[in-house]
Amino acid sequence: MFISEEVEGLSQEYIDNPFGKKRDKRIEGWLQILNALPRPENIHVELDSQVSVNFSFNDNKLLEEKLLGLLPWRKGPFKLNEIIIDSEWDSGKKWERFLKLNQNLKGKSILDVGSGNGYYAFRMIGEGANQVLCLEPNLMHVSQFASINHFIGSKSVRMIPERLEHLGLKNSYFDLIFSMGLLYHQRNPKEHLTDLKKLLSKKGKIILETIISPKKYGKLLEPKDGNYASMPNVHYIHTDYGCKLLFKQLGLKVVTESELQATEGEEQRRTKWMPFKSFESALDKNNKSLTVEGYPAPQRKFYVLEVSGI
Ligand SMILES: C[S@@+](CC[C@H](N)C(=O)[O-])C[C@H]1O[C@@H](n2cnc3c(N)ncnc32)[C@H](O)[C@@H]1O
Repeated sequence: MFISEEVEGLSQEYIDNPFGKKRDKRIEGWLQILNALPRPENIHVELDSQVSVNFSFNDNKLLEEKLLGLLPWRKGPFKLNEIIIDSEWDSGKKWERFLKLNQNLKGKSILDVGSGNGYYAFRMIGEGANQVLCLEPNLMHVSQFASINHFIGSKSVRMIPERLEHLGLKNSYFDLIFSMGLLYHQRNPKEHLTDLKKLLSKKGKIILETIISPKKYGKLLEPKDGNYASMPNVHYIHTDYGCKLLFKQLGLKVVTESELQATEGEEQRRTKWMPFKSFESALDKNNKSLTVEGYPAPQRKFYVLEVSGI
């Protein structure tokens, strides 16, 4: 069974058809690419220090062309034989920051909300996690997950192309719930955290990663028209104080937290696999401490939270 009877039932249909009954004019093209991927043999998978898979296949050039058809690759990198999918984000850097918090993933059931293409889920398996359920409404990421897992063949990671609040899980509980890069996109951050809290197993933990605004904003920064660092739909960027107040109101306590980390051009940049606008268009050209909209440049932080019992 995958995590719970409920999750088993909800996730089954996406094993063979990653998009389920979703309608999108891009799906046909993605399915053509996915169906034309070579059947891998003699597979060797590595997930602890990187997401890498080697297999017998001699036309890597053709394979690279097919995978480029799933552009833009925002999360990664992934290594398939000699092909390196050099994504916009070097997601390994965020993962290293998480690992420094010394959380044990061995044997854990995990929910990764807003998982992107599953890069982190594979790294979680590499750290010994038992099963990881990914929720990701952006079908482009879903197509990429399907392509990578075609080669890796993991039965321990499943992806459902739905938003957390639309899936409506009721009888499933997770040891760890990751919400990375989501809080500032929420119209109702309190509701988001409450939804996560409801799905925690006893002694479960939420791993929250988000952008933090400087102290001078009090509880939070509210970007005008939802635009921040060239990103749309950014509703609230909490300060560290604002986050901790929110946690307290919701009966969550901070078990551990990371340092602040400013995003740099090394971690997010345009590449052959994501040839569109990237971090260089997020900051003011004449003052890199500001975003193009004039707000403080992004700094990110991890919090590990558990229910405080109040
Ligand atoms: C900024 S990206 C972060 C991706 C990844 N977690 C990371 O940290 O690199 C946010 C992702 O969350 C997804 N997302 C946004 N709202 C969501 C929701 N309510 N439920 C599930 N996924 C959501 C988006 O489609 C997007 O892929």
